[in-house]
Amino acid sequence: MTTKYAETEPRQDAVKHVGRPVDRVDGRAKTTGEARYAAEHRYPGMAHAALVHATVARGRIEAVDTEAARAVPGVIEVLTHENAPAMKPAPKTSLMNLSSLASGTTVSYLATDEVHWNGQPVAVVVAETPETARHAASLVRVAYRELPAVVDFAAEEPNASPQKSSVLQPAGGDKGDAVAALAAAPVSVDLRFTTPPEHHNAMEPHATIAVWDGDRLTVHEGTQNIAWLRAHLAQRFGIPERAVRVLSPYVGGGFGGKGFVWAGTLLAVLAARATARPVRLALTREGVYRTVGGRTPTVQRVALGADGDGDLTALIHTSVAMTARIGGMPEGVVSSSRHLYDAATIHLRQRLVRLDLLANTAMRAPGDSVGSFALESAMDELACELGIDPIELRRRNEPERNPMDGKRFTHRMLREAYEVGAERFGWRERDPRPGSMRDGRWLVGMGVATAYHPSLTMPADVTVRLAADGAVVVRCALQEIGVGAATVQAQITADELGVPLEAVRVEIGDSELPAGPGAGGSAQTAGAAAGVLDACRKLKESALALARRAPDSPLRGRRLDDLEARDGGLYHGGRGETYAAILARAGRDHLEAGGGTGMLKFLAKTLNERRRWVKAASGAHFCEVRVDRDTGEVRVSRWLGMFDVGRVINAKTAAGQLRGGIVMGIGMALTEATQVDPRTGRIMNPSLSEYHVPVHADIPRIDVHWLDEPDPTMPLGLLGIGEVGITGVAAAVANAVRHATGKRVLDLPITLDKLL
Ligand code: MOS
Repeated sequence: MTTKYAETEPRQDAVKHVGRPVDRVDGRAKTTGEARYAAEHRYPGMAHAALVHATVARGRIEAVDTEAARAVPGVIEVLTHENAPAMKPAPKTSLMNLSSLASGTTVSYLATDEVHWNGQPVAVVVAETPETARHAASLVRVAYRELPAVVDFAAEEPNASPQKSSVLQPAGGDKGDAVAALAAAPVSVDLRFTTPPEHHNAMEPHATIAVWDGDRLTVHEGTQNIAWLRAHLAQRFGIPERAVRVLSPYVGGGFGGKGFVWAGTLLAVLAARATARPVRLALTREGVYRTVGGRTPTVQRVALGADGDGDLTALIHTSVAMTARIGGMPEGVVSSSRHLYDAATIHLRQRLVRLDLLANTAMRAPGDSVGSFALESAMDELACELGIDPIELRRRNEPERNPMDGKRFTHRMLREAYEVGAERFGWRERDPRPGSMRDGRWLVGMGVATAYHPSLTMPADVTVRLAADGAVVVRCALQEIGVGAATVQAQITADELGVPLEAVRVEIGDSELPAGPGAGGSAQTAGAAAGVLDACRKLKESALALARRAPDSPLRGRRLDDLEARDGGLYHGGRGETYAAILARAGRDHLEAGGGTGMLKFLAKTLNERRRWVKAASGAHFCEVRVDRDTGEVRVSRWLGMFDVGRVINAKTAAGQLRGGIVMGIGMALTEATQVDPRTGRIMNPSLSEYHVPVHADIPRIDVHWLDEPDPTMPLGLLGIGEVGITGVAAAVANAVRHATGKRVLDLPITLDKLL
């Protein structure tokens, strides 16, 4: 094994900027407060809105009393279904029009007296200050006629119906007869796992400022998908897309919670139209819980059968998850089981229940994060049954081709990830006997689990402009949700054009720019990179064409492929010219080129690829926990993640992404759960004081490393990194807890009561 894998050590052949731990181009603006997030803008005459939330799960509004609210000095308007202007219904979803997927729910807010979930906005107060709006909102009295509601996931789970497959996501599948193979297996485990609902808890709560100018609308909002938000607003408010401008230069975290359009956004726009004032609606943390969907709860069964050597003869993975009657995203909970192990037989099924709750939505690695908890815990339990090291069990069952259908992997280095990771973590020092490792009062446990997340690209339009003075401007409506979106594209551009990084400015976050890919599905960087590479190549082609017109140019007779872009120009060996010289001679002040693939060509290419290849980012997690032998308190004491994510563009932001995923996974493992009252469907812990995300004191130093081998089918060889980090994490913790205590916890989060 000679692969390089240090966080700060670029590949030997790395070009100038790609691979390096470059500082964020917007780091200073963010840390000094110069960067302004959606809620921080001001307009003359701007009013503030607050929501009134329904307190029943299902029913009709019989009466709304707004008198007391209207009497508060500073209240401008109270909008209810009785007086609000109508918005158009949500579009029918279709894969032919991807922005139709943007509806958070199908509810036409304030256009109906129907209540669909406990927390649905049923009135909006607009006032001169946020405090006035919130106070007045608390005075609105709503009377309901309640209707029977189905809100208890655990009670409904036995009534689930089969999930439908889509082009992008098969809901199940079979290879051979896994049920018979399981029954015949000499060694087997058969486990039932449960995971709770969760919420994203981005640092920036959702906020919208909506400004109408006649029939033109400007919206400031932190979104993960500018193009979808624009298309959705145009459709709901009956105006052309070009009349909507979305400004979203900075987003304070998303994790999936800002991928779709939720009530607050629509109601800010509606309120601005109704009052003819710019309106700012900044949700409280509670408001986010009540109006923005979270992760589905799941019930999963994983049953594994093996022969005495640990070769898998049967893999069964079935799941039940939720959607809501008013929308929601069906998750691919068993997806990892299609790809991870070379079992002789496989049986996969996904089912859904539909509840009278707020629609669920994507949350960091939807499907795979919870699915990997079940699959990777079961693999660990099987290793215990077999008396085989859990890494050895995985090595034995590592497939050469995709287990379900024999498709080839574009790239797969899980064996190497485990090998190198085990060495660095010191896995050898693990005594496999449960409870055998101690440190004073602490029981010490070590666990592993596999990370896996499918890779995807989305198309992006990009323009690159190079001026005679050397300034380069890249334009693409990317979303900066904290990942370093502009930074990495600046690195790529600098390398492609051979110009200094400081010369490149990347303009993002504005719907007037060329359309970007959404920041979701770990797909933004690759999609934008493809557009940047294309645009840079075209720009260099035009520079070369200009140069070749001059009889004395050293580039005469050269083709672009023979040239190197460096030192601000194009060179063949020592001979070449700077862009500045080329432009000056031609009397031009700039060059500009556009890149990107059209949607149709892109879809054709994607579907064609999917028929032949399986591609994914993957990795191996190594976790050490300490469990207090008397109180059952679990502390994560060490972590190492060894990833195969293709080429890494920025060692600093990539490490941040992977660590962030692991931190979020530790939250999933140990503390996070949205508590829904099974009688009323009301979320009972809608705040950071009652929903526990990990804090610094909960997280040890996390070592992350990568193998840094480019994927042959991806732009620059990069696989997405936003989501793979969280997959497998909860299982690695559960497996370490099992090793420390001998107890297998099947129900997340692993709170101390489950260990006593
Ligand atoms: Mo994501 S959960 O694709 O933002």
